[in-house]
Amino acid sequence: MTVSIDLNNVDELRRFDTTGILAAIDSLPSQCAAAGELVAKVNLPEYTDISNIVITGLGGSAIGGDMLRAYTSGVIEVPIVVNRGYDMPNFVNSKSLVFAVSYSGNTEETLSAYDQAHRRGAAVIGVTSGGRLKELVLEDGYPLLEVPGGMFPRAANGYLFMPCLTILQKIGLLPDLSGEAAEMIYLLKDMCWKLGPERAEAENPAKQLARKLYGKIPVIWGATGTTEVVAQRWKAQINENAKSPCYWNVFPELNHNEIVGLEVPAEFVKKIHIIVLQDGADHAQVQKRMAITKEVFQDKVDGFTEIKAHGNGLLARIYNLICTGDFTSAYLAALYGVDPGPIKVIDYLKEALQK
Ligand code: F6R
Repeated sequence: MTVSIDLNNVDELRRFDTTGILAAIDSLPSQCAAAGELVAKVNLPEYTDISNIVITGLGGSAIGGDMLRAYTSGVIEVPIVVNRGYDMPNFVNSKSLVFAVSYSGNTEETLSAYDQAHRRGAAVIGVTSGGRLKELVLEDGYPLLEVPGGMFPRAANGYLFMPCLTILQKIGLLPDLSGEAAEMIYLLKDMCWKLGPERAEAENPAKQLARKLYGKIPVIWGATGTTEVVAQRWKAQINENAKSPCYWNVFPELNHNEIVGLEVPAEFVKKIHIIVLQDGADHAQVQKRMAITKEVFQDKVDGFTEIKAHGNGLLARIYNLICTGDFTSAYLAALYGVDPGPIKVIDYLKEALQK
């Protein structure tokens, strides 16, 4: 039997969070602000003739790649692909820019994909806090973006995402987006203040949302082109921090399949709490789809919560929603009486694979 932590007892919340997940979420703005400093230490060559960008990584090291893809899709002229596996896509060659991202530096799929990128003559950039990846990148003479260590990869999102974005601007593959980054950091600080552990549940939307999700199956719906990557991040954070099942999907795709599967078993469907992430830039028809879908399903499921992104730029809006999801997942962990940091089953699997 686990015992819920009182969300208004800050000392208890922090004591229970033995690895400092809450503090790491709170450090997101400063992680993002450190990008310029981290990139200044990287020895970048002149890149010419890049025809595609691949970010290869897993879990918390891959989501930054999805954020890069989603955030830059309206401005970048080459395709960005996120690779989550042992093998690189066949198109990867000497015209590919490959970010090999592994926070620990020891994830076997990423090391395998790195090796393939290296053999095919791709322009590789290593992003890691150490491990075997750091050794290989240094041996092979590629630029190394070394990020501060000692955290869980998923908690180091700002360190893993922002410097890659900064590099793409520095090497001329993206226009100057520093204005959007500044807005995002400013807004994130405000969010951390409004949603942080010190803020009582009565006035803290993240604590209130965790309360709604307690005992339920969260299903997170975003929209292609705007909040897609955020829905994916929410799902992973609820899985890893709160140790709870959670699923995600996107409009309009989910209107073509998932909604049909919300019928039986009715008692299971009644346990589902749907969260719809909404963005002002969602396609007008997608906004209409969201409204109709809500009308049809709100009484069939446990609840239907809509969360709107705030901010002018897309980057601020993405991070604004990510911050809400991160805090919610940590508070949900507290309600379940589980320590948000440790991910024993992932550790077990990685060890078992080595045997
Ligand atoms: C742990 C986490 C995991 C890892 C994944 C890959 O916090 O988020 O999803 O990111 O197991 O490990 P790394 O990031 O070290 O390559």
